[in-house]
Amino acid sequence: MKQYIIKGGTPLRGEVVIGGAKNAALGIIVAAIMADEPVKIENLPDVDDVRVLLDAIEGIGAIVERIDTHTVRINGALINDVNVDEDAIRKIRGSYYLVGALLGKYKKAMVALPGGCQIGSRPIDQHIKGFEQLGAEVTIHHGKIDARAEALVGHHIYLDCPSVGATINIMMAACMAEGKTIIENPAKEPHIVDVANFLNSMGANIKGAGTDAIRIRGVESLHGSEYSIIPDQIEAGTYMLAVAATRGDVYIKNVIPKHLEAITAKLIEIGAQVEEFDDCVHVKADHRLGYANVKTMPYPGFPTDMQPQMTTLLALSQGTSIVTETIFETRFKYVGELRRMGANITVEGNAAFITGVEGLTGAQVSAPDLRAGAALVMAGLAGEGYTYVDQIQYIERGYENFAEKIRGMGGHMEKIDSEDERAIRKFKMKVS
Ligand code: UD1
Repeated sequence: MKQYIIKGGTPLRGEVVIGGAKNAALGIIVAAIMADEPVKIENLPDVDDVRVLLDAIEGIGAIVERIDTHTVRINGALINDVNVDEDAIRKIRGSYYLVGALLGKYKKAMVALPGGCQIGSRPIDQHIKGFEQLGAEVTIHHGKIDARAEALVGHHIYLDCPSVGATINIMMAACMAEGKTIIENPAKEPHIVDVANFLNSMGANIKGAGTDAIRIRGVESLHGSEYSIIPDQIEAGTYMLAVAATRGDVYIKNVIPKHLEAITAKLIEIGAQVEEFDDCVHVKADHRLGYANVKTMPYPGFPTDMQPQMTTLLALSQGTSIVTETIFETRFKYVGELRRMGANITVEGNAAFITGVEGLTGAQVSAPDLRAGAALVMAGLAGEGYTYVDQIQYIERGYENFAEKIRGMGGHMEKIDSEDERAIRKFKMKVS
């Protein structure tokens, strides 16, 4: 089994370059198959979720040409199947976008129900409601979503909650429906805007993405395009907090500072220094930071995908902090692992009560999901001694070259085989 081995206690310094947004990439890869011409996508993150989705669209007949690690050309002209049912696809969340894209283009789709991180019940009722209001009949049988329509017709759709997935999925189906669709109470995350911009670059007519109402006028077909994905807000945020936790000093490059405002504001509130440039943020912390109350909210609020990392930072800060999770109900599963490293956190319902400790100590821990896994890495980097993080397949779904990027900032972290005693000894010799 692969694991990360980390020797903590070294402040991160220098610079790190952020890759393309994973969650935008998942929407964009799938949206690309709606055109019957080649689409070139740049700034693609080289992470497992992206690889799984590219394999899935190849499996139904799309032509996928990897130009380089971060660039792909996709042509959906020869898609010969609307039935997507692979074991791999069940493991990722973004697979549900195949329903919206195939339903929009071919008026039918059969896709294995999505997986993703086990952080709550994660229903898809809002996706289904949207498809049904566009005129589709949607059933779930044998673990698959089956959606089909004689014709899709634009509709006024009100989402009960601002779901990222439902917003993107309905947007994709509606952009090839007849007439006008309005999505009220949509999610406003940066990747909603990115997927809308991408669809528009292929000839779709979507207005208002990122606002309280998205207006879509259906078009008959979509054409080829070239598009570069926005930087990953969560990857950037993770490094910002890792720098603060290790009391480091790093320029985080290739970011859109506006997308990071909720994270920046909290860092400043607890005493870190954050400077914003055009496409870079500089984070510096030279003392133990203070406490804060944090509540996860849909964008532009504090992102749920940064909650475990923030809890980890506050576990090392002075005073008592409260982190309240309002989006997913079981997103504190990693707290037990942090306690093994010396954190003083109790969870009651959807809130974590954190009494900051002076330091954490390395331990053998296991990543319960993607972002919690990243938080455990952060804890290891800030803690004293060696930390071994197991189940890193979750982390590799969303962080490209994690260990390399940490080493680039002077941190000590390597991906090794947990059985490989020699590799462990070699790492220890190198960092001692
Ligand atoms: C996406 C992101 C995930 C992030 C989350 C919230 C992808 C692939 N994943 O997940 O990283 O943590 O947004 O920012 O982009 N809900 C319903 N019914 C639905 C859909 C959602 O009740 O049909 C609820 C969910 O239970 C949750 C909330 O809405 O409480 C937000 O979920 P949603 O935004 O849909 O999250 P995902 O798209 O699954």
